[in-house]
Amino acid sequence: MTDDGWLTEEVLRAYAAAPDPRLRELLAALIRHLHAFATETALTHREWLAGLEFLTAVGQMCDERRQEFVLLSDVLGLSAQVDHVNAAEGATEPTVLGPFYRPGAPHRPLGAHIGRPEDGAPTLIKGRVTDTGGQPIAGATLDVWQCSANGLYDTQDPQQPSFNLRGVFTTGPDGGYEFRTVRPVSYPIPVDGPVGALLRASARHNWRASHVHAIVSAAGFEPVTTHIFDTDNEYLRSDAVFGVRESLIARFRPAGAADPDDVSFVAAADFVLAPAR
Ligand code: BEZ
Ligand code: FE
Repeated sequence: MTDDGWLTEEVLRAYAAAPDPRLRELLAALIRHLHAFATETALTHREWLAGLEFLTAVGQMCDERRQEFVLLSDVLGLSAQVDHVNAAEGATEPTVLGPFYRPGAPHRPLGAHIGRPEDGAPTLIKGRVTDTGGQPIAGATLDVWQCSANGLYDTQDPQQPSFNLRGVFTTGPDGGYEFRTVRPVSYPIPVDGPVGALLRASARHNWRASHVHAIVSAAGFEPVTTHIFDTDNEYLRSDAVFGVRESLIARFRPAGAADPDDVSFVAAADFVLAPAR
């Protein structure tokens, strides 16, 4: 049957009086896209119901420790698309926050190690935080976190002390920072729920390209939630959550004679912040 769109128009009219203009805009676009999806695919009743049952299972998987809806958004690339749409001009590219961020990580002095020897290969990460004109930003904070050599974050692993591989650092007068951590490893995202079933049905793997997370912020600037990726990683082109950006890939080079002798690798990563909107 052909669809001349009269039903879509009728539904749009029913929501056209929503008093909040942004809600009105979002609902209208959602209705248009949902109706177009059903029309384009000639969605059957069975498929429609299967979709609703899938979303119900996603909801039922959620509790205070597990957010399956965010994971669904991640594997569909919606989280990355929202990051992209909201990226500030000229600033470091944002990428997914992920479910493993914990606020309240300890402030540590520049150069400190955020982990333990058993967490992996000791690595120095250093760089500068600047504004979009290249001027250093002193007093910017980097809130960094990553998983251990076993692919688990402290919140997933009772063997790790609380706030292991997490720390907050403040840039010096030249906008510079450095901290010790371990070379990041690839790890699998959880597949014991409906999102896992979706990945399997789509013949997709569930690995994240190895990375260190960072939220970089400073007074008067837009904060950026981003990653440092390792150039030497097999999942850079197929990250399960579409988080990799070329500009965020750093080389973890073997430490040389001029580097501190307690690290095996050194990576450089600069961050650029745009003025607060
Ligand atoms: C993470 O990098 O921590 C992450 C991001 C999205 C989904 C799962 C994990
Ligand atoms: Fe991560």
